[in-house]
Amino acid sequence: MLSFILAAILCIPYIIESTESWSYQNPKLWARKNRYCGGRSQSPINIRFNRSSYNTRLKPISLEERDPTVPDEVFNTGFTAQLNLNGRYVLKNVVPGGEDYIAEQIHFHWGHPNDNVNGSEHLYEGQSYPIEMHLVTYSSWYSNILDAMHNTRALAVIGVFFEISDEPNPLLQPLVNALKHIRGQDSRFTLNNSIDVKTLIGENRLRRYYRYDGSLTTPPCFESVVWTVLLEPLKLSFHQLHGFRYLHDKHANLIQDTYRPIQKLGTRKLFRNFHVENFQERRQQLRRMEMIENSGQNVKSYMKFINILLSFFMFIIY
Ligand SMILES: *[C@@H]1O[C@H](CO)[C@@H](O)[C@H](O)[C@H]1NC(C)=O
Ligand SMILES: *[C@@H]1O[C@H](CO)[C@@H](O)[C@H](O)[C@H]1NC(C)=O
Ligand SMILES: *[C@@H]1O[C@H](CO)[C@@H](O)[C@H](O)[C@H]1NC(C)=O
Repeated sequence: MLSFILAAILCIPYIIESTESWSYQNPKLWARKNRYCGGRSQSPINIRFNRSSYNTRLKPISLEERDPTVPDEVFNTGFTAQLNLNGRYVLKNVVPGGEDYIAEQIHFHWGHPNDNVNGSEHLYEGQSYPIEMHLVTYSSWYSNILDAMHNTRALAVIGVFFEISDEPNPLLQPLVNALKHIRGQDSRFTLNNSIDVKTLIGENRLRRYYRYDGSLTTPPCFESVVWTVLLEPLKLSFHQLHGFRYLHDKHANLIQDTYRPIQKLGTRKLFRNFHVENFQERRQQLRRMEMIENSGQNVKSYMKFINILLSFFMFIIY
């Protein structure tokens, strides 16, 4: 009897340990069991142009398809939707003169069904986006991600924001379709047609980015990540965003608000690889295009009005 009680008591911490996992409800507690989560080089951060410095050594990154035969698999981890890439792509030029990084997976962070504001992990000038995509890669010096993940600068993650648009993003749609098949935790689905990640992100988008040294944004929070956050967001429709918000975790609760609060930049350097003038120029260019588009629309609606008036008069005269 005594030994039974003893065994039971001894087992309690084990049971608690094994059933208690981390959650997004109490990110402040992560550091209790994962000491790195309390470190000084943590992610995500608030990215501010005014805190960044221009680094001419950072070149456009390129994404190359290495093995197109690897099938894409989507997986509900209980925390996110993950697209396993299994080395189908490699990243080149991440670090000046550095090695290639092998693509392991893509996953997402988002908010909750009534929140179209919060969701991204990184903030840009204090603003969030509704969803952020992370392309996770590891240095080709290592044989796999597990060997790499706790070593300095052994991981490179590309963060891409999404903003909401009226039109669905056709390149994202195969992934959104697959989400229906992975509602429950641990469910997997193999896609017949793989996602064209290269076209989805786009070569041009990989040209302008912010760079800093940071961490995994979930426990164990290893400070091993070369972070690249792209300046230009991608687009998706409301409907596509909703696809992510109906996945379930192991308690059959919605997977929602899967973003860690921002961490202090501290003494770290935030770099950017584009010059201020280019950036301002592009913004002005975009604004000009918008104005032309808008005035185009105004002219169109004006013409429509005239047409209606004309046909009305014709009708009366007739
Ligand atoms: C950055 O700093 C400049 C000069 O101090 C200021 O004019 C500008 O508004 C700042 N930009 C942002 C986005 O804070
Ligand atoms: C977004 O997050 C902020 C800060 O936590 C919060 O005040 C705000 O209510 C959130 N927005 C929505 C729509 O939930
Ligand atoms: C994938 O291919 C298999 C066999 O060709 C087919 O039965 C299945 O319906 C396809 N699935 C999708 C989602 O297109």
